[in-house]
This record gives sequence, structure tokens and C-alpha cells, in this order.
Amino acid sequence: MQFFDRAYEGTPPWEIGRPQAEFMALEQEGEIRGRVLDVGCGTGENALFYAARGHETWAIDFAPLAIQRAREKGSVRAANVRFEVASALELGDLGESFDTVTDCGMFHTFSDEHRPRYSRSLASVLRPGGRLFVLCFSEREPTDWGGPRRVTEPELRATFDDGWKVRWIRAAQFETTQPQVSGHAWMASFERRGPPPPPPPRPSSRGKPVNGRRTGESGSSVRPTSPPRNDRTPRHRSKRAN
Ligand SMILES: C[S@@+](CC[C@H](N)C(=O)[O-])C[C@H]1O[C@@H](n2cnc3c(N)ncnc32)[C@H](O)[C@@H]1O
Repeated sequence: MQFFDRAYEGTPPWEIGRPQAEFMALEQEGEIRGRVLDVGCGTGENALFYAARGHETWAIDFAPLAIQRAREKGSVRAANVRFEVASALELGDLGESFDTVTDCGMFHTFSDEHRPRYSRSLASVLRPGGRLFVLCFSEREPTDWGGPRRVTEPELRATFDDGWKVRWIRAAQFETTQPQVSGHAWMASFERRGPPPPPPPRPSSRGKPVNGRRTGESGSSVRPTSPPRNDRTPRHRSKRAN
């Protein structure tokens, strides 16, 4: 059994019972825009938060138990998030495109070989001009407690050096339930380069379909049907270390 499948049989240390503060701050800053995909979503707190804030949201994880828990939470909270079991290295299989992708604590689990695959996979679902946000442990985090790889800023830049623009990389905090974890992290934002999207079809004078589509239609396949509620209750103490 895989590490993550086993982890979700209990409560893993990254499961803080609420969205990570760094992603709540991004949303407040207006950085989370358009259709959102949360990759490596775990049991879905960040995705449920985006939906509660009115964003059309998908979320994927390759651990079936994590997705099962996420769907249960979504159902209890009447939240409109599409949770799917899928690989972050094969995102093109979703057949969808997004304006924002968030990664909270997954990038630092990837090997050197997986990093360029991940970059290409993300590019297959993020629209040109779309934004990626990655929260990962940094090299400032002590290694005495174990945990995943520590990531340096040059490593982040090298992974997203082809087809991406670095918007900014800033020191951040990764919250966990473990007091021995300081949480030193990077929050990195990249923009997908590419040709600008085609202009929207112009309305015809008689309201007939233009460019094969009726005016006012969009290409998106998932529509929120009711505003989701945001009734999270923190269940675990977490630590925001200095
Ligand atoms: C540290 S956990 C973070 C979970 C969640 N983002 C959170 O903040 O609670 C990393 C997550 O990435 C998922 N993951 C790792 N590699 C993956 C891959 N290749 N495809 C999809 N999910 C993956 C794991 O199953 C796990 O849920």
C-alpha cells in the first residue's frame, strides 16, 4: 500500500481541519481567479474553501480514501466541488482547463524525474495567462523530524523555466498539527505563457450562433447550481511557527 493511502487511514499531520492560511490569504488578495483546480487536494479543505468563496472548483488526488473523505465533507457542507481520483502527472486526462491551479504540499513529494512531468501536466490544463500557486517546504525547514524533501528557490525556478513566467516567490508557512514542525515554506506563483486566448465571439445582429456557439455560451462544463455554505469548524490545533 502506498504511503498516502496508509496516511489517510488515520489523520495525517498535514490535515489541519481547515484551509491553509496561505491560501486563504491568496484568495483575499484576489489571486484565486476563474475556474480553480486544487491538485493533491487531500481531504479537500482548500478546495471547499474556494467553492465557499464562490469559485467554480475541481480538486484531484490520487489517494482514493482522501477523495472519499473530501466528497463526504462536500456533501455535508452542500459544497459544489468536483472531487476526482486522478494523477497530478496526467492532468490532461481530465479534459478540462482552468484559470488557477493550487498545490498545497504536493510538489515537495516529487522526485527529480517527476518535476518536469508535473510542469508539463500542469501546462496541459492551465490556460495561457493562468496562474499556478505552489506551497512547499523550504530548505530553511530543519530536517531532524524527517518529512518530505526541502525545496530551494532555484529548484522551483528550474522546474518552471520552460513555458512559465515566475511571478513571485515568497517565504511562507506550512501549517501542520505537529509541534516539532516549524513550517518554513515557499509560496511560489507562476504564470503559464502561451498565445493569448482567442477573442470572444462577437454577437451577430440577429442573435444567431457565432463561431459555432450561441452568444452568451461559455465552454465551461461545470456550473455551480447553488451557493455553497462555509461552515467549517476547526478540529485540530495547528502550529504557525516563526
Ligand atoms: C502533504 S499532502 C497535502 C494534501 C492537501 N493539499 C492538504 O493541504 O491537506 C500531499 C497530497 O498529494 C497527493 N499526491 C501526491 N502525489 C500525487 C500525484 N502524483 N497525483 C495526485 N495526488 C498526489 C497525496 O495523496 C496527498 O493527499
